[in-house]
Amino acid sequence: MTRAWWQGAVFYEIYVRSFADSNDDGVGDLPGITSRLDYVKRLGVDAIWLTPFYPSPQKDHGYDVADYLDVNPEYGTLEDFDRLVERAHDLRLKVLVDLVPNHTSDQHPWFKSALSSLDDPHRSWYHFADPKPDGSPPNNWTSAFGGPAWARDDASGQWYLHLFAPEQPDLNWWNPEVQAEFEKIVRFWLQRGADGFRIDVAPALFKRPDLADRPMIRNRATGALEPDPAFSIFDQPQLHDVYKKWREIANGIPPERVLVGEIFEPRRHSAFVAPDQLNMAFALIAVPWDAARWRRLIDVDRGALKGPGSEPSWTLSNHDVVREVTRFGGGILGRKRALAAMLLVLGLPGQVFLYQGEELGLEEADVPDEQRQDPVFFHSGGSQKGRDGCRVPMPWLRGRPYAGFSTAPTWLPEPAGWDRFAVDAQLASYGSVLRQYMRALALRRRLATRLADQLEWCPAPDGVLLFRRGALVVACNFGHRPVELEVEGRLVAASDLLVKKISGRLKLPPSSASWLDASIR
Ligand code: NOJ
Ligand code: CA
Repeated sequence: MTRAWWQGAVFYEIYVRSFADSNDDGVGDLPGITSRLDYVKRLGVDAIWLTPFYPSPQKDHGYDVADYLDVNPEYGTLEDFDRLVERAHDLRLKVLVDLVPNHTSDQHPWFKSALSSLDDPHRSWYHFADPKPDGSPPNNWTSAFGGPAWARDDASGQWYLHLFAPEQPDLNWWNPEVQAEFEKIVRFWLQRGADGFRIDVAPALFKRPDLADRPMIRNRATGALEPDPAFSIFDQPQLHDVYKKWREIANGIPPERVLVGEIFEPRRHSAFVAPDQLNMAFALIAVPWDAARWRRLIDVDRGALKGPGSEPSWTLSNHDVVREVTRFGGGILGRKRALAAMLLVLGLPGQVFLYQGEELGLEEADVPDEQRQDPVFFHSGGSQKGRDGCRVPMPWLRGRPYAGFSTAPTWLPEPAGWDRFAVDAQLASYGSVLRQYMRALALRRRLATRLADQLEWCPAPDGVLLFRRGALVVACNFGHRPVELEVEGRLVAASDLLVKKISGRLKLPPSSASWLDASIR
């Protein structure tokens, strides 16, 4: 079976605000990205995903869009986008744009017009509703960023729905005009050269029409009242028709484009990843460093996809989660585990999404509270630190102020000493995390045609995962003790310099992984 370009591809997520700054204002931008595409190519990935770069008041760093058909002046112009795509395509890199259909910014002209009067034509583009008789919000739904999911429109006395920040009003997808508008937006970027979309909040566009209260049930263990997990405020079947329509639009604009849903739950993967809908969704590996849990997650995520050639899109981190080095214990141990995880994940069948800085072994940065920017921090009254720690600008140059990202103070501060992780320093060192990523990615590409989509688990001691994929054998030791495995094949990659292959025996130190080419004895 011939593979489409995206099957088994490695994607690299670029957080636009923090990748590269071309005009030294401390904020990343599109020309900055274009100037660093050589680096991305050299890293060895196939495609990039750009986080939202649209005009936006930046209340949620671009996920509050004020104009879907333009570029935020802070980041450049539409022509800068064209140049970025052109350079990427010259380098044979595909480009995904982030589409944010669930909500707009409260500064979007549609919402401003909706607020202007009760019978404004845009009023029905959003969810406005009357309060309950006691004056409280229309229902008990809560925002993902904390507090109620409703904000009061003082002029009318009605409330509007926002599943995220109050500055991100949810669009009413039951309105066909909203659907038609997004079809135009999808066409616009595809015609401009985007190779597809990462779709924000992809499963949630249609809200249940009754806007019913979420039932609260008592937790048997704690006695506390909690929202009933069986009650969904979205999951409306009409959403499939929207993605079928987008698929049709994409199919009408060759070459082949991709739709990637921001969907994490396997049961929703089964419903949305299909030849006539989305190409993929994220299999985010958020479980702790534990062999049994990893194996279960891998099996569940793979089992959720039914179509031929349909495999998960493995993700260790993104701009919303704590960096994996930190999740895996931080420091030297965390970095060792993250490197082992990288080899394991790159060995799995399916796509892989890397997040910028992961290839440098970056940890979650400690951002002082007074410099935090994430709405999660503000809306939770500081009880949740938020996502700034994984969004700190990329360190490019050793020994330079702001780690070479900019000559001006960066929008989130570079932690002291971070220039030791800089790209230039790591390129110069054979054993660096970056060089390990580059070697693994190059090897994966070389082996690609001999890698089967089937994954065959092999017997291994507790705390060790061992599987085969055609010519490739992947071994990972999650434990604290060295292990020895009986495996055939030549050792071709190792996350730890102490991994040893002696005839049929493989010695794996703790927190390490290796690849063996089984076609070479
Ligand atoms: C998911 C995005 O990745 C996240 O950064 C954003 O805050 C929410 N969606 C809301 O758009
Ligand atoms: Ca800039």
